[in-house]
Parts: sequence; C-alpha cells; structure tokens
Amino acid sequence: MLPLFIRSIKFLVGGAFIFVLGLALFGTISGWVQDPPKETAEEAMHHHPKELRLPSDGPLGKFDNQQLQRGFLVFEKVCASCHSLSLVSFRDLQQIGYSEAEVKKIAKDWPIKQPVQDPKAGTWGERDNLASDRFPKVYYPGTGTPPDLSLITKARHGGPAYVYSLLTGYSEKPSAEALAHFPEFAKTPDGMHFNPYFANLNIAMPPPLTADDQVTFSDGTRATVDQMAQDVSAFLVWTAEPTMQRRHAAGVAVVLFLLIATGLAYGAYLTVWRGVKH
Ligand code: HEC
Repeated sequence: MLPLFIRSIKFLVGGAFIFVLGLALFGTISGWVQDPPKETAEEAMHHHPKELRLPSDGPLGKFDNQQLQRGFLVFEKVCASCHSLSLVSFRDLQQIGYSEAEVKKIAKDWPIKQPVQDPKAGTWGERDNLASDRFPKVYYPGTGTPPDLSLITKARHGGPAYVYSLLTGYSEKPSAEALAHFPEFAKTPDGMHFNPYFANLNIAMPPPLTADDQVTFSDGTRATVDQMAQDVSAFLVWTAEPTMQRRHAAGVAVVLFLLIATGLAYGAYLTVWRGVKH
C-alpha cells in the first residue's frame, strides 16, 4: 500500500511543478504578445564603431612613428585643452621618435604648468614642465567631464575604432524613422551634441575636429578630419600600451622557441625509442 502512495505523491509533486512552470511560461509569452517590448532609443539610433585599420593591429602589428607624431600633434593642438593624459610622461615621447631636445622644448612650452607647493608657506604656485614630468592635469569648467585619455582605447569597447568613430560621427543625424519614434531627439539639449557612436547618444563634448587643415602636419600628410581622427586614435593606442610592440616581439619569440623545442623533443623521442618495439 505505502509504496504506491509514495509513488503517487512523487507524480503529484512533479505534476505541480510542471503546471506552475507552464503557467509562468504562458504568462510570459502572453504578456510579450499583448504588449511587446518597445524599441529603445539606443536600439533605434546607436551605431557600432566603424572599421579602422591601424599599423599596430594584429599580433605582428607595429607602431608607425610618423602617424603617432601626427596623432600627438592633434592631441596637443586640439584635445589637450580639455583632456588630461596623466599616465604619460613628456620623455615617453622619445619612444615615438622625438629627440631629447624636442621633448624638453615640448615640455617647457606646454601651456598648462606643473603645480608646486611652497614647502614653507603651503601655498600653491606653478613651474614649467620638465621632460620627466607627467602631462599635467587639465581643469575643465565646461559642461561634462572629459575623461583622462591615457587609457581610453583600453577602456572603451572597440578601442581606437570607437574613438575614431566618435570623432567623425557628429555629422550623422537620427533618421526620420527614428525621430518619428523618439521625437525628443529632434532637439538636442543645450550643451549637448548628438553622436550615434556615444552610448548615451547625446555627448557633452563639442565636435573637436571640425575642419580640414585644423592642424598642419610636418610630414606633408593632408590633415583632413578623417586623417586627424585616425592619427589621434593611433596615438591613443600607443599611450594606452607603449610597450605593445615589445609584447608582440616577445610573443613571436616564445612561439618560435616552443616550435623549435617541440621539434627537438620529437627528434629525441625518435632517437631514444629507435629499435625498441613499442
Ligand atoms: C572643449 C573640450 C573638449 C575637447 C577640445 C575635446 N574633448 Fe573629448 N570630451 C569632452 C567632454 C566634456 C567629454 C565628456 C562627454 C560626456 O561624458 O558627455 C569628452 C569625452 C571624450 C571621450 C570619451 C567618450 C566616452 O565614451 O566616454 C573621448 C574618447 C574623447 N572625448 C576624445 C577626444 C579627443 C581625441 C579629442 C581631440 C581630438 C577631444 N576629445 C577633444 C571635451 C572635449
């Protein structure tokens, strides 16, 4: 008697579970059919980064110092008035081909000075930058908070392609179809700018690269907006990981070593077991 009773309880409990799960599934599906989830503004308007090819891409990628110097010029002339680069020292610029004298001059002429505190009076003053100083922090009183750019290509999905797309994406406006769904995007709030590559769609940064020849490259490259955006993105790949090229070289050396070691180990195996039946 008892075993049959226990067996029927098992079926009852199992059946109850299936019933509750079925009810939950039915509720979810019928809710979804009656009131389907609405498209969000992000789904309607956000764009994934455009494609950007840089010489530093891929496991064998190398920095192009000419391009990095152009990118630094764009950073210096355009971005540096709002954005800090506080993890990079002036003397690091020697790695991208500037001479020691050039670096000293760049540091000395840098418009934002190094803050120094008088050890006796406790008051703050400033002095010219030295080659050994980090780039000084920038005070930005405008709308929004410009992030430090040292690591930005590591901190954003898409890295340099994202920075490039953001800088060249201001001209793209929401489509008429998207505006019909989201009429609030017809007028961008004061102090903000529509940019479909920014996660928030409206960004506080005014378009920094607006006209061709905004800077003059000394290597003769034409400074189109697209070129400046590519070069400053390449520069920000370098600031985020100046040792990338060394890491790549070490990786290649390790893989070659392992290949040779595998060959030697196989040769040793053949020699040791030669003539032995196995
Ligand atoms: C007039 C000041 C100003 C200038 C010049 C400027 N920016 Fe910005 N930038 C901002 C502000 C403000 C933000 C923050 C925007 C926000 O959070 O809405 C920002 C944000 C950014 C972001 C981060 C976006 C994100 O995903 O959070 C990047 C990348 C960036 N700027 C790159 C640049 C580059 C590269 C230059 C030079 C070509 C530049 N900016 C020039 C003010 C500026």
